[in-house]
Amino acid sequence: MWFLILVLVLVTALVLYWLLVATEGVYLGRRAVVWMYDITARKYDGIKQFDEDDERPAIARPFLAALEDQQEPLVLDVATGTGRVPLLLLAEPAFDGRVVGLDAAIRMLAQAQAKLAQLPEGQRQRFMLVQQAAAALPFEDDLFDAVSCLEALEFFPNDLAALKEMARVLKPGGFLMTSRRIGPEGRLFFGRYRSKADFEAALANLGFSGIRSFAWQLNYNMVTAWKAPAPIGR
Ligand SMILES: C[S@@+](CC[C@H](N)C(=O)[O-])C[C@H]1O[C@@H](n2cnc3c(N)ncnc32)[C@H](O)[C@@H]1O
Repeated sequence: MWFLILVLVLVTALVLYWLLVATEGVYLGRRAVVWMYDITARKYDGIKQFDEDDERPAIARPFLAALEDQQEPLVLDVATGTGRVPLLLLAEPAFDGRVVGLDAAIRMLAQAQAKLAQLPEGQRQRFMLVQQAAAALPFEDDLFDAVSCLEALEFFPNDLAALKEMARVLKPGGFLMTSRRIGPEGRLFFGRYRSKADFEAALANLGFSGIRSFAWQLNYNMVTAWKAPAPIGR
């Protein structure tokens, strides 16, 4: 009897860990995911401990290279969280564009707003935050020169629908930077895990070309692509 109870407790604990920690509520629906980010928003940066020395070469520089021919480019960061991508771009002297950060979790956006408000005036005027789910981006077609979505696709109810929206709002020849969950934790997203081949084929089906996957973090590959037609040489 005690043995059975022990097994039951253990199984329940494992299921709860999988549902709430390993996959961050994604099998419970969008509201659960957003709620979990809202309640942990103040701790997010402390948990992640992003290192600027790693972040600049991995994120800011590829953006700058992709946007070098654009004057005052317009960038959208989907699931911006606490403003990782906007902050990196606005800190780059060579970046003269504007950034829209979109996220469904209002408290994550509040953290981003607090950090962005510390920037010098000239940079402060070049960002905007929007609370919205990624499934329906509130922007017209072909608007942005670049779109990013980092460490987030696996938490969306439908990753392909969100990527389709990103493709829609990108200008033809626009740059996409996103990430694919990998490693043992990635495999816990049962029915949602995407292999490199599967992910790249999905991007190609959505009209992207010049698709490249890079080793990036322990749990993520970075994936870049261009909305067709890709600029010459890309
Ligand atoms: C792991 S964080 C990544 C944040 C940021 N991109 C970064 O790299 O630090 C995932 C983010 O996705 C957001 N998110 C989750 N589901 C979403 C949805 N359906 N629509 C928009 N944002 C969502 C969460 O609120 C959270 O800020």
